[in-house]
Amino acid sequence: MEGSIKEILISREEIAERVKVLGEKISRDYFDKKLMVIGILKGSFIFMADLVREITRPLEIDFMLLSSYGNSLQSSGQVNILKDLGQSIRGKEVMIVEDIIDTGLTLKWLTDTLLLREPSSLRTCTLLDKPSRRIVEITPDYNGFIIPDSFVVGYGLDYSERYRNLSDIVIVEP
Ligand code: IMP
Repeated sequence: MEGSIKEILISREEIAERVKVLGEKISRDYFDKKLMVIGILKGSFIFMADLVREITRPLEIDFMLLSSYGNSLQSSGQVNILKDLGQSIRGKEVMIVEDIIDTGLTLKWLTDTLLLREPSSLRTCTLLDKPSRRIVEITPDYNGFIIPDSFVVGYGLDYSERYRNLSDIVIVEP
């Protein structure tokens, strides 16, 4: 289950430029608010690290680890929390940072779950969006790039735990 790299879909320069724009927009939208940014592990770790440095407002960070695809390319829709937040989000301005929305099952489940914890507001930010694969209706508040229906890796995203350390986002063929 290694997969082979086909082509660069989004270069590191394009990513950096877009992350800067997202950070500026988020900074404007939260200009008078203290933000709590929640990164969804493991795929968002590089995006999260770059994004928070482009946000010029005071913020706190935390992470959640959710059960993922394992070695399969297809979402099961069954999500489990493997590592939860270290604190309450009640009354806080919360933004979830995801690597990619595919079927939408993970993010839909997560937003429903976190809303039960009564944050003051809850928004979502994803680096990549594959709307053509959507099973449930969910639209991110902030999105880096809309991409076609290909399996991509790099910049934090993996295929069977490989390729997370690539600087560009590349298409991989199983
Ligand atoms: P969803 O529940 O189908 O929206 O899946 C979301 C999760 O599936 C993401 O957080 C990724 O971990 C994983 N995923 C979906 N598509 C890709 C891809 O093209 N490359 C790497 N991981 C992916």
